[in-house]
Amino acid sequence: MKICCIGAGYVGGPTMAMIAHKCKGHTVTVVDINQARIDAWNSETLPVFEPGLYDIVVGSRGTNLFFSTDVDTAIKEADIIFISVNTPTKTYGVGAGRAADLRYIEKCARKIAEVAEDDKIVVEKSTLPVRTAESIKRILESNSNGRKFQILSNPEFLAEGTAVEDLEAPDRVLIGGDQDPEGLVAIQTLVDVYAEWVPRKNILTTNLWSSELSKLTANAFLAQRISSINAISALCEETGANVDEVAHSIGTDSRIGPKFLKSSVGFGGSCFQKDILNLVYLCEHFGLPEVAAYWNSVVEMNDYQKHRFSRRVISTMFNTVSDKKIAVLGFAFKKDTNDTRESAAIYVCKDLLDEQANLAIYDPKVSVDQIRRDLDISEDNKYVSVCKDAYEACADAHAILVLTEWDEFKALDYKAIYEKMHLPAFLFDGRNLLDLAALEKIGFETRGIGKG
Ligand code: UDX
Ligand code: UDX
Repeated sequence: MKICCIGAGYVGGPTMAMIAHKCKGHTVTVVDINQARIDAWNSETLPVFEPGLYDIVVGSRGTNLFFSTDVDTAIKEADIIFISVNTPTKTYGVGAGRAADLRYIEKCARKIAEVAEDDKIVVEKSTLPVRTAESIKRILESNSNGRKFQILSNPEFLAEGTAVEDLEAPDRVLIGGDQDPEGLVAIQTLVDVYAEWVPRKNILTTNLWSSELSKLTANAFLAQRISSINAISALCEETGANVDEVAHSIGTDSRIGPKFLKSSVGFGGSCFQKDILNLVYLCEHFGLPEVAAYWNSVVEMNDYQKHRFSRRVISTMFNTVSDKKIAVLGFAFKKDTNDTRESAAIYVCKDLLDEQANLAIYDPKVSVDQIRRDLDISEDNKYVSVCKDAYEACADAHAILVLTEWDEFKALDYKAIYEKMHLPAFLFDGRNLLDLAALEKIGFETRGIGKG
């Protein structure tokens, strides 16, 4: 079979690389309108950093995995077309700031209608509002000229940083489609692709709307757990409780479970906030303001947590960070990725820049240009420097902020770092990554999240 994927981003690229890796009998072509991104996928430096991804891409590239900007040909030749383009939060018009911007999805549907010469299975891979499949179907059917299109929803649950292992052994693959005979055939066709490596019992099939809604709900529940434990972290700081101990205690209850209870400076990433705001908008659209408010509070709590962290830094440092050098360790939204979308570090850095701090930022994977773009600053900005390693960032600093949980930050020589800092040497661990007792022994004045 020939498979095409429109959108060579964090989702489309790794997912298709895994399908090509596991299904040598199928040819997979990933297309994108962005020439630079396609060139990068065809180079030695992939545009997405994920542990294990390079080997999988190189193992299939040029054999049954291709990256191209020739969207039309790939669509024409494909039996199955995945749509994996971005669906950012709308910045204009009705629903601005909350609703998903579906213009790229619609463009893809129109492109498929324009160039397809025979029947196609069209798969929504991007996360979408419930009932988007209906619009895609309308666009395709009103331009069908006798061709038959089946729309499936197949949301992706991979998390960045662990994309390859998540794709290799997913908890589940979800496929939604029409429940009529043609729809069931289309569902089965996609089930057969995944069944080449995923146990059949882990492949769930549902109707279209359940599949679309399950993706938004999964992300909302995951984010809600983080906001819940972060809310408790604020109370821990007031009462002398330790949020990690509380999380461990409740996590041993098998009904609650231990995962996704790590209190932090706030969740980031391209999905959680976007998808919850999208859910909120949908609830309002369907006349459910109480449900909308409930889910919106998960995002509000996250905003509170990010700014609460900045405020704590400032108040601890004698209510002024002006002209003080602050080392920022970590800028990505989590470890093992170069992605900074919605990273808590962006918000914390902006808060501190508003207070005229001097920031020395180090992240093992995020580029200087990306940091400047995120902070909206030019090359000659005198308040921000991007450093080549953690030691350079920390030299002469008044405080260290750990904002991403990179493993290498655990192995730094903090004694040597301490000796080059201004005193009192503050360390704010926004990820509860480090052994604060050991750091206190060296002389640091430390603050963790949710540690009173
Ligand atoms: C993101 C989210 O992670 C995912 O949950 C959501 O459902 C879709 O957006 P991601 O792969 O991370 O997915 O997005 P991104 O890295 O921005 O990649 C999208 C790609 O689609 C870009 O490379 C863009 O150039 C491409 N694109 C966009 C097209 O090829 N054609 C278009 O019309 C629009
Ligand atoms: C998320 C979902 O996990 C994934 O299923 C979906 O497909 C896309 O959205 P992702 O955003 O890549 O994946 O990473 P995830 O591991 O979920 O982390 C999101 C954010 O939450 C990160 O900033 C992370 O640091 C934070 N987080 C996660 C916590 O603060 N505490 C936790 O316990 C877990």
